[in-house]
Amino acid sequence: MARTRRPLIAGNWKMNGLTADALALAKGVANGTKQAGWSDREVLVCPPATLVAAVAEAVKASGVFVGGQDCHAKSNGAHTGDISAEMLRDCGASHVIVGHSERRTDHGETDAVVRAKAEAAWRAGLVPIVCIGETLTEREAGKTLSVLETQLKGSLPGGSTATNVVVAYEPVWAIGTGKTPTTPEVAAAHAHIRRVLGGLMSESAGVRLLYGGSVKESNAAELLAAGDVDGALVGGASLKASEFLAIAKAA
Ligand code: PGA
Repeated sequence: MARTRRPLIAGNWKMNGLTADALALAKGVANGTKQAGWSDREVLVCPPATLVAAVAEAVKASGVFVGGQDCHAKSNGAHTGDISAEMLRDCGASHVIVGHSERRTDHGETDAVVRAKAEAAWRAGLVPIVCIGETLTEREAGKTLSVLETQLKGSLPGGSTATNVVVAYEPVWAIGTGKTPTTPEVAAAHAHIRRVLGGLMSESAGVRLLYGGSVKESNAAELLAAGDVDGALVGGASLKASEFLAIAKAA
């Protein structure tokens, strides 16, 4: 079945990478992507902020996009240690992940904060990848769908469209654990997210919904074939060019 939305395979390197290794990884992804010549999917890498500029340079003319992992809501000012969306854009980024569960947990980011960051991304000309996902406790309490709905409604700014936002569903308990929901569970969560999006915006059908959480070469084809899954947000498995490219190939 032909896809109506172009899959996006995004690598979230998290707090990993010093210059030499990161550039080797970036070049590996760039070479593989260029060789594959994909016009039917997009490949994105999100290195730590310290490496965004160097990675953007390393992947130039390969078709690989570069993104940040977080941004501040403000464009500049007295926010020691923070990085604005404008700064990411200035370094060559086109996307930024906002509301990753590690940010929500480690930095107490609420839906309102995530929403402000997504708006900041727009202000700077970046596409935000807005992350949502339930914890194990919420899942076991049967609250998965309601949690996703609340997070979506709180985190997605008004004015979201198919081209200016990407949503990533990442069950918190699946991140870095090797555990994943079953394919029907992923499909059900994505179908629910799309229903909720339908109530929030007029052109929701084109919004890409990524699945994230322990995606690897061996399970990518199955997860990516689940209904309403338009790509993946990949953590650990994005740190090896060959494995990340294999996931992109599976899309
Ligand atoms: P993982 O991380 O692939 O290592 O589970 C995914 C993510 O946190 O985006």
